[in-house]
Amino acid sequence: MKEGVNSIKKKRGEKFSFSTAVLSWFDRHGRKDLPWQQSVTAYRVYVSEIMLQQTQVSTVIPYFHRFMEVFPDVNCLAAAPLDHVLHLWTGLGYYARARNLHKTAQLIAAQYRGFFPSSSEQLQSLPGVGRSTAGAICAIAFNQAEPILDGNVKRVLSRFYGVSDWPGNKKIEEKLWTYAKACLPLFRCRDYTQAMMDLGALLCTRTQPHCEGCPLKLSCLAFQSGEPARFPGTKPKKTLPVRQVNLLVIENEKGEILLQQRPSMGIWGGLWSLPECEENDLVMWCQKKFNLAIKQAKELSVFRHTFSHFHLDIKPIRAKVSSQALCVMEDQGLIWYDANAPQSVGLPKPICRILKMIEG
Ligand code: ADE
Repeated sequence: MKEGVNSIKKKRGEKFSFSTAVLSWFDRHGRKDLPWQQSVTAYRVYVSEIMLQQTQVSTVIPYFHRFMEVFPDVNCLAAAPLDHVLHLWTGLGYYARARNLHKTAQLIAAQYRGFFPSSSEQLQSLPGVGRSTAGAICAIAFNQAEPILDGNVKRVLSRFYGVSDWPGNKKIEEKLWTYAKACLPLFRCRDYTQAMMDLGALLCTRTQPHCEGCPLKLSCLAFQSGEPARFPGTKPKKTLPVRQVNLLVIENEKGEILLQQRPSMGIWGGLWSLPECEENDLVMWCQKKFNLAIKQAKELSVFRHTFSHFHLDIKPIRAKVSSQALCVMEDQGLIWYDANAPQSVGLPKPICRILKMIEG
């Protein structure tokens, strides 16, 4: 049977207040100077939470600043071309987040008169906003008592309650949601939520947690076990499949590189990439496909880019073409890209890496 919030509170909370301990730790050690903690608005919190999905705080900070300079409010973002948004996202990865961000801004502008809703349910109906992100927006932007359950919080709760199973398992995740709800304070929900993230990021780290500084340690079952890093359990291992791809770096006589826009769905959707050639005869392929004559071609070193569900071994092939016979049309999804005066387009990280490889 599912364990209810009240029974958990009774079992664990009679003498020890989880949230009081967490909040007083936050007052002394929590982070209070993150950019999205200043001038708090629902829009700023929303953008930060989307950027922080699967990405570390230190990586997000400069992106957040640049994003806010260019798109200071939701209406600006809604009115911008998607390419401009993707450009600002270049290097942050998981580009579906940027497309959803743009879609959501347009939805908020058109259907909510530019104001974010404050209910978790309505927030969860927005593209790219799951239960935990909705909870974080409710708590941080609106100071509401809504739980979150991101990776850090899963770890803190799994250890405190001694959950040794893998939290990716649906049943275990549900149990952790119940714990997350049971632990919420009545007041200071914004600080509490930030504190839980900070505890997970700063003390209750995956390997070698710093239990000595933890406000929860005396009641923490993982600490009592003497092997806190054993909690929570890890995902049963599965080896990722490997795919191979040849990416053509086609360079014209001006030194410009041919870029091709990816279809909007799938990997690197909507971003600008290098043409992908599956055939062996790339001279023929280039002639047929782009009406370009290759003068010389050279294979560069293969490197691996790992996505969440497969490895991609990329072989860049540098090919110089003699003429610029190709009349490149942006509306056909092709551009000549000048690395010395780069256009504002979104580029996947490995493509930036290849462009760097051929620089100079
Ligand atoms: N990870 C997700 N949301 C965060 C936040 N608001 N602060 C720090 N890390 C986070």
